[in-house]
Amino acid sequence: MPHEGTRVVVQQRSLKIGIIGIGVGGAEILPAMESMETIHLVAGADVVPATLERFKERFPSARTYQSAEELCEDAEVEAVWVSSPNRFHAEHTILAARHGKHVVVEKPMAVTLEDAERMVEAADRYGVKLLAGHTRAFTVPIRAMRRVIESGKYGQLRALNIWSYSDWMLRPRTADELDLAQGGGIPYRQGPHQVDTVRLLGGGMLRSVRAQVGQWMAERPIPGFYSAFLEFENGVPATISHNGYGYFLGAELVPWGEDRQQYSAEERARIRGELRSGTRAEMAEKQAMRIGGSQQRVVFDRMKPKAWVPEDMGMAIASLDRADVRQSAYGLYIHSDDGKMEVDVEARSGGAVGRRAELEELYAAVVGGQPVWHDGRWGMATLEVCLAIMQSARERREVMLQHQVPVPAGYDADMPIPGEASAVLA
Ligand SMILES: NC(=O)c1ccc[n+]([C@@H]2O[C@H](COP(=O)([O-])OP(=O)(O)OC[C@H]3O[C@@H](n4cnc5c(N)ncnc54)[C@H](O)[C@@H]3O)[C@@H](O)[C@H]2O)c1
Repeated sequence: MPHEGTRVVVQQRSLKIGIIGIGVGGAEILPAMESMETIHLVAGADVVPATLERFKERFPSARTYQSAEELCEDAEVEAVWVSSPNRFHAEHTILAARHGKHVVVEKPMAVTLEDAERMVEAADRYGVKLLAGHTRAFTVPIRAMRRVIESGKYGQLRALNIWSYSDWMLRPRTADELDLAQGGGIPYRQGPHQVDTVRLLGGGMLRSVRAQVGQWMAERPIPGFYSAFLEFENGVPATISHNGYGYFLGAELVPWGEDRQQYSAEERARIRGELRSGTRAEMAEKQAMRIGGSQQRVVFDRMKPKAWVPEDMGMAIASLDRADVRQSAYGLYIHSDDGKMEVDVEARSGGAVGRRAELEELYAAVVGGQPVWHDGRWGMATLEVCLAIMQSARERREVMLQHQVPVPAGYDADMPIPGEASAVLA
């Protein structure tokens, strides 16, 4: 029994996690797991034996499985991180839920709305938490931007714009990623980042979508572009756009962005040439980016402190009555009647905090009994918009939305409102 004057150290219990699909996306979340004392990675499943061997080298005490089924039968696993290919998201989530495991599912939540609905139902039926992991909306600057909007200090939100220029289409891709029916292409793979962010900033309740989708690289039989006009129930407009063909990169928009690109302009030109001539060793390149591969630093380095650049999600700008708010190197710029104020919100922790946020939300929900903010219904609403982008393009008309849900009351309520005590820079 501790007596007066004794420091009582409260030991937080750890949550035991298993990962299904240890690919490039899976590898991205591992450093966040390693950095958290509250998360204990106890198992991994993949269908590639070499990947399991490399996983075992890095996590010697974890068990490895060749199937999602076996991992879900592991009694020690309490929660599962599903980062298998998109077509398995529903199957693996429902399997895990049936075994009583909580789930974080990578974006897109599923390939169809019907599958997303089955996932939500399974989580309800088996009483497990289901969290839609949409990554970029979890980053601190975006959440801070939402706090600025919510504060009302600069009046009402009037418009949102997010534009991205990336080289997503040039990165190594597996066959399933090059198949629209399996959730391949920019609207499925990158849409969730921008849509989730817009929904978070604008309150969640989108009304309709009008969009066009573009596919103009013969060697990549999937859409590499979309441009969408979204309207919220309250009339606020949002435009989102992503061009993944990699001629111009959004990173070049900031002075410190040039050396933060995955491929230089010369490398991008070489990759296009190899794709055109059919000489690219694409599968070897992809495996090199996965765990233990020669290029894994590309993904693991993302945990190092670094300045924000408009990477895959692009630059988000919120316009209010009396201010425009956008991302800065380590936080936000608030352009208002007081001038241009830079607010450091991330304490130079780079992307690390952003990736930990999904795990923190899971932990708080499972261990702390907190709500899951980005739950299955939230993820389904985001997927609905991504599907509507493609439908609107096919049918050349505005698509009305049916499954939108609001940002839950109380989300990030304890986050300070950025800019309250900061200096005006210019
Ligand atoms: N949040 C992010 O920023 C982010 C980044 C990259 C990828 N992702 C997501 O991760 C998922 C995978 O994409 P990726 O780029 O990592 O592809 P990938 O091919 O590198 O990863 C998929 C992994 O799943 C394994 N796999 C395939 N079938 C399986 C099965 N039946 N059971 C278990 N494992 C299986 C593959 O061997 C591979 O290791 C996608 O849903 C993607 O959207 C998310």
